[in-house]
Amino acid sequence: MDLCGRDHGVLIFFFVKTMFLKDRKYNLIKGIYSFIDENTLAGDNLKYKKIYDRISWAYNLSQRFFFRIKFGGEKKFREPFLSELTIRDNDKVLEVSTGTGNNFRFLNKKAVYTGVDISMKMLLQAKKHLKRWKVKATLVHCEGENLPFEDNYFDVVFHCGGINYFNDKQKAILEMIRVAKQETKLLIVDETDKLVRENYRKNPFLKGGFSDADKASVPVNLIPKEMTGIRSEIICKGMMYKLTFIKPKQYE
Ligand SMILES: C[S@@+](CC[C@H](N)C(=O)[O-])C[C@H]1O[C@@H](n2cnc3c(N)ncnc32)[C@H](O)[C@@H]1O
Repeated sequence: MDLCGRDHGVLIFFFVKTMFLKDRKYNLIKGIYSFIDENTLAGDNLKYKKIYDRISWAYNLSQRFFFRIKFGGEKKFREPFLSELTIRDNDKVLEVSTGTGNNFRFLNKKAVYTGVDISMKMLLQAKKHLKRWKVKATLVHCEGENLPFEDNYFDVVFHCGGINYFNDKQKAILEMIRVAKQETKLLIVDETDKLVRENYRKNPFLKGGFSDADKASVPVNLIPKEMTGIRSEIICKGMMYKLTFIKPKQYE
């Protein structure tokens, strides 16, 4: 076609299939897809976003110290729940509340990772660490209760840490189920009330966060009855719970 438009050639449209729902708008901030207008955050989501923004710079250092003292290392702490995941090469894997991306470091490097979190500062830390660990991941800034992904998209979906204090645990669980493919096993891990009482309440850096131990209960009653193989277990010396279940075939 010439520049005057006399020759009407074939118009070629490129349809780029992305993982994101078509009607969701995002801003790309330093390589991170942001679906959050921070002015709209409220309740515990706003509270914990602020706490994690504040402690993001020290998160990995303090975690490493804690895991070394209590478990003999971070790998030993994470093994009892990450071993629940079967991740094949090229699997599309989603972690809800990925924080600084620490779990990806211990998983199959040949999978395709996506990590979402409400704290942009935690995600910026993740970006830095993942580069150092040579792990490729798409990082997405959004609420766990409102995932911007297509239905039935991910081969593996898991969550480790955070859900106890989400605004709406039920909605977050339904979102994880929605974006998982049928027959996917989902994993949810978080702290027990024992960890809240014996550790968090005494930690001056958390400044009143994580003090409600009643919220730290296994959300087994929030799993839809259609899910199969629902199992829960207390792990990591009583400090964490893990909950697994399978999204059945035919579940929409
Ligand atoms: C304890 S950290 C867990 C980080 C990481 N998964 C790990 O295992 O180290 C909890 C994370 O949950 C995130 N978070 C809290 N509320 C959230 C919400 N409603 N939606 C998404 N992420 C949330 C926080 O920003 C924080 O990064």
